[in-house]
Amino acid sequence: MTSYSIIGAGAIGTALAQQFSRKNIKVKIANTRGRESLSDLTATLGNNVEATSTQDALKADLVMLAVPFDRVPDAVRQAAAWDNRIVVDATNAIKFPEFLPKDLGGRLSTEIVAEAAPGARVVKGFNTLPAAVLAQVPDDHGRRVMFLSGNNSLANAEVAALANALGSLNEGKSAQFGGALMVHDLTSHD
Ligand SMILES: NC(=O)c1ccc[n+]([C@@H]2O[C@H](COP(=O)([O-])OP(=O)(O)OC[C@H]3O[C@@H](n4cnc5c(N)ncnc54)[C@H](OP(=O)(O)O)[C@@H]3O)[C@@H](O)[C@H]2O)c1
Repeated sequence: MTSYSIIGAGAIGTALAQQFSRKNIKVKIANTRGRESLSDLTATLGNNVEATSTQDALKADLVMLAVPFDRVPDAVRQAAAWDNRIVVDATNAIKFPEFLPKDLGGRLSTEIVAEAAPGARVVKGFNTLPAAVLAQVPDDHGRRVMFLSGNNSLANAEVAALANALGSLNEGKSAQFGGALMVHDLTSHD
């Protein structure tokens, strides 16, 4: 069974953890301040969400990065070999408070994330919806679009499947559109 973790427990990390909890999928979550600082969050979200250290979270099969873009290298630095595991890059390279794109010298932000996690299959995703929307329970009639992009089509497919699982309606409700979250895979090549 695939193991999942979220690094970052702010607005996006919490929204993701809420969806894992809602769908009964186990996930570990970590921040810089340690497990104790997450006790309120895990108490609210129940047994599916376990607080852990960043080092432990970095061992998951699929690691979601929900930290400020500039903190990515620090967040992943304790990872052992990535061995083709998946990193979901939910960050946006934005300058605050101006809210403008950072100057990355013509590089893609995901290239910079991939450089920080050598040997991982990086998929950009979960970064286009505001945290408040990502946290919502999909309703019967709505459908969200999530854009995924990455160079490895198998990894993209795995992340798309996760997105669909997290975004789908609760069992027992009518899923008029077959799910509430639509994934556009922008992959072009391997
Ligand atoms: N907010 C949104 O609506 C939104 C939407 C789409 C994408 N994003 C992107 O998602 C990312 C996170 O945004 P956010 O709004 O969730 O930020 P946030 O609320 O400020 O939370 C950031 C989280 O990252 C953790 N963190 C920072 N450095 C870390 C490190 N080195 N190791 C482990 N954890 C670390 C922080 O932990 P501590 O508090 O313990 O330091 C905190 O839990 C950003 O890249 C942002 O651009 C945000």
